[in-house]
Amino acid sequence: MAPRKLAAGNWKMNGDLAALDQVKALVRDDAPDCDVMICPPALLIYPMVEALKGTGIAVGGQDCHHAASGAHTGDIAAEQLRDAGATAVILGHSERRTDHGESDEDVRNKALAAYRAGLTAIICLGETEAQRDADETLQVIAAQLAGSLPDEATASNTVIAYEPIWAIGTGRTPTADQIAEVHRLLRDDLQQRFSDGGEMTLLYGGSVKPGNASKIFAIPHVNGALVGGASLKASDFAPITAALGAA
Ligand code: PGA
Repeated sequence: MAPRKLAAGNWKMNGDLAALDQVKALVRDDAPDCDVMICPPALLIYPMVEALKGTGIAVGGQDCHHAASGAHTGDIAAEQLRDAGATAVILGHSERRTDHGESDEDVRNKALAAYRAGLTAIICLGETEAQRDADETLQVIAAQLAGSLPDEATASNTVIAYEPIWAIGTGRTPTADQIAEVHRLLRDDLQQRFSDGGEMTLLYGGSVKPGNASKIFAIPHVNGALVGGASLKASDFAPITAALGAA
């Protein structure tokens, strides 16, 4: 089976109840031929799920704790995301790894929590600009993949997102060859480690816009995108989902 195509929007710490109009504007009769998901701040998950009921657009979280419940002030369990109607959770985004010191092991444990709760884990990997300049990209990505992915990962519970840190929110994107090289490595490693590694969905993320989406989706082993800034407005995100559907 070919990997499923996914356009996932990561709203980060943006949006409010009024912004739900933007996701409602994504709903169309001629829905694109790919999975579409929005990952809003946790407070918006439940109202967004309600607003999107019956539309086929999925809602995800941006992080979860590894435990199912307990004394963890400010944290959210995977089970609570699920209870609110989320079907997936972004894990190990570089902003979490940097702002909250999350290690590959933390990400792996959170992924296990996501599986326990029945959520798809969208696991993010990416090199810094210094690592790319030092020609370390492939080693860094291989190590993050090995360390962040539990042995229990399957094509139906896990999505991998390659997000070069220097491309996030900067308007800069790698060349098609640079993206292709990393996605080839991801596919090879996944196929070696998992029997269904050839079916896992691989996303690219980092300054994906309506203007570059088609070119990125034409790269081998790119099965979709994790989109930050351009997911906040339906007028930007809808053309990206359409480009993926057509790819
Ligand atoms: P960006 O963010 O599309 O704004 O570059 C991508 C991400 O961080 O997931």
